[in-house]
Amino acid sequence: MWARVPRVKFFNGFEIPLIGLGTYLTSGEQGVRSIKEAIDIGYRHIDTAHQYGNECEVGRAVKDKIDEGFVRREDLFITTKLWNTFHKPEHVSQAFGRSLARLQLDYVDLYLMHMPMALGFRGYEQQDLISYDNSGKIVCSDVDYCDTWKAMEQLVCSGRVRSIGLSNFNQPQLERLLSVASIKPVTNQVECNPGFTQRPLIEFCRGLDITVTAFSPMGRANRCDSSCHVTAGVLTDARVAAIGAKYGKSNAQIVLRYLIDIGTTPIPKPSNRAETLENIDIFDFELTAEEIALLGRFDTGERAVPLKYYSHHREYPFREDFTLGSRVLRQIVR
Ligand SMILES: NC(=O)c1ccc[n+]([C@@H]2O[C@H](COP(=O)([O-])OP(=O)(O)OC[C@H]3O[C@@H](n4cnc5c(N)ncnc54)[C@H](OP(=O)(O)O)[C@@H]3O)[C@@H](O)[C@H]2O)c1
Repeated sequence: MWARVPRVKFFNGFEIPLIGLGTYLTSGEQGVRSIKEAIDIGYRHIDTAHQYGNECEVGRAVKDKIDEGFVRREDLFITTKLWNTFHKPEHVSQAFGRSLARLQLDYVDLYLMHMPMALGFRGYEQQDLISYDNSGKIVCSDVDYCDTWKAMEQLVCSGRVRSIGLSNFNQPQLERLLSVASIKPVTNQVECNPGFTQRPLIEFCRGLDITVTAFSPMGRANRCDSSCHVTAGVLTDARVAAIGAKYGKSNAQIVLRYLIDIGTTPIPKPSNRAETLENIDIFDFELTAEEIALLGRFDTGERAVPLKYYSHHREYPFREDFTLGSRVLRQIVR
């Protein structure tokens, strides 16, 4: 089977395939094999990050498929991300260059600021992701993400990055960044799934012609803790299964179609070949307004990825969640 995936255009003219391959926790030889298998199946959009420690694996898989003549570089859309310890403007180019070298590429299609929260610099090696103080808290830095963005803009000027974007930014942070940006972000990559639909942020981004990339589209499914049980429930819910029966699709496919129909680009992480095949086979149907409304009712306002370890950071982006209720508050500060 080989699937052709539709693309959407960013405001800058570059296009992103509407479904991507999530790679968090993909690693080693098995990781390389699974990425190559995904390319064979039709995935052209691959999401990695310095933090995932697998840029080398992505690079090897991509190089193998290009060397085989199966794809051309220009057919692929590769995203990687600037880690939080590299926010000082003087660290951005070097950190990016190392990512590019690990990926064995001349350019990436999209470079994202992984989070708005700067952390203390710890060197460029991949094992040095985070440092902790004596009380066990992550050591923060007060570098302004607007200054980081200015350095990322230079990467676009250098030709080594096609587009730049953000991840885990809330609306006020995005607005402040836009007030100084010379280059607008093409996307904000944020958690989005039926359990946490992000409708206001999606509408806000749409108004600015900024796309939303949906991470953890399955709410991390069975890997999640009890906090995202509702999203996991969507994957077994009988009403969602009935919608699936109408189109000949699984619950997971209905979830991914829902995310596309509300205007996002999901990047699910499959665990095996069957899921890899399933997640790309969603472009021969669309949900009705009633079906979209039903999926939206699973929204609990609870994140599968609350980044609670950063909740003391002055730029912690999910503080607004504290207003959602004590249940969420407990989850974040736990
Ligand atoms: N920018 C950020 O801060 C950020 C944060 C998180 C993630 N991400 C990106 O987003 C990607 C996806 O998010 P994620 O990995 O957190 O979680 P996810 O894609 O929401 O969940 C992954 C889990 O979903 C299940 N799944 C996938 N396809 C399925 C299918 N067709 N049917 C049934 N279950 C299915 C699998 O569970 P089983 O193993 O139980 O089958 C898999 O382990 C990441 O890999 C990463 O690239 C970015």
